Amino acid sequence: MEKKHKKNKEYTKAPHLVLIGFMGSGKTSIGKSLSYKLRRAFYDTDKMIEESEGKTISEIFASKGEGYFRELETNVLREIRDDRIPRIYSLGGGTPVLLQNQPLIKMCGTVVYLRISAEEVYERLKGDTTRPLLQCDDPLAKIKKLIALRSPAYERCADIIIDTGNVSKDSVIGDVLDRLRELGWDISTDDKEERSDEDSGDKRSQS
Ligand code: S3P
Repeated sequence: MEKKHKKNKEYTKAPHLVLIGFMGSGKTSIGKSLSYKLRRAFYDTDKMIEESEGKTISEIFASKGEGYFRELETNVLREIRDDRIPRIYSLGGGTPVLLQNQPLIKMCGTVVYLRISAEEVYERLKGDTTRPLLQCDDPLAKIKKLIALRSPAYERCADIIIDTGNVSKDSVIGDVLDRLRELGWDISTDDKEERSDEDSGDKRSQS
């Protein structure tokens, strides 16, 4: 199926805005706000996987293992690449790590990497129980190790890199919009439609 796709000369990059970054970098929260600004539907690939499997991410890791979850992520990327309606997608923090996923991610559209430090991730996700990879004795050490390992992959996939540390959500959104304009996106914003989900207390909104 992959081969067939490559032979199709008409195939172009999909038109999506794709958010990548470590767990807790704000992909979901920023993605939801951008969905109002850009008037595009927002999708979180973890949620897509949870819905199609009928299980939470933690349950999938526990019952079928991380390898199985990574296969599901690659399948979802193929769906996104083949989706031609412009949307905003937030990818799970580990999706860009698999080498085979990197060209797929780039084919999905314009990729924004929300960069964050290990210490900030730790502060944001302290007490979170929904990320199986962080359920360990020393989550900060694990976060540091994973960020060091994954940063090159995030950078390779990114068209735009935005630092999210110690800055407000509005400033991050403003930076993303500015960088998109620089890339030629025609963006007219109308803030009236936006609703703040800042205080929703929804842990997933930090993903
Ligand atoms: C993971 C990140 C999570 C989720 C899963 C694995 C990772 O997504 O896909 O727990 O490997 O970093 P978020 O980045 O949305 O938290």
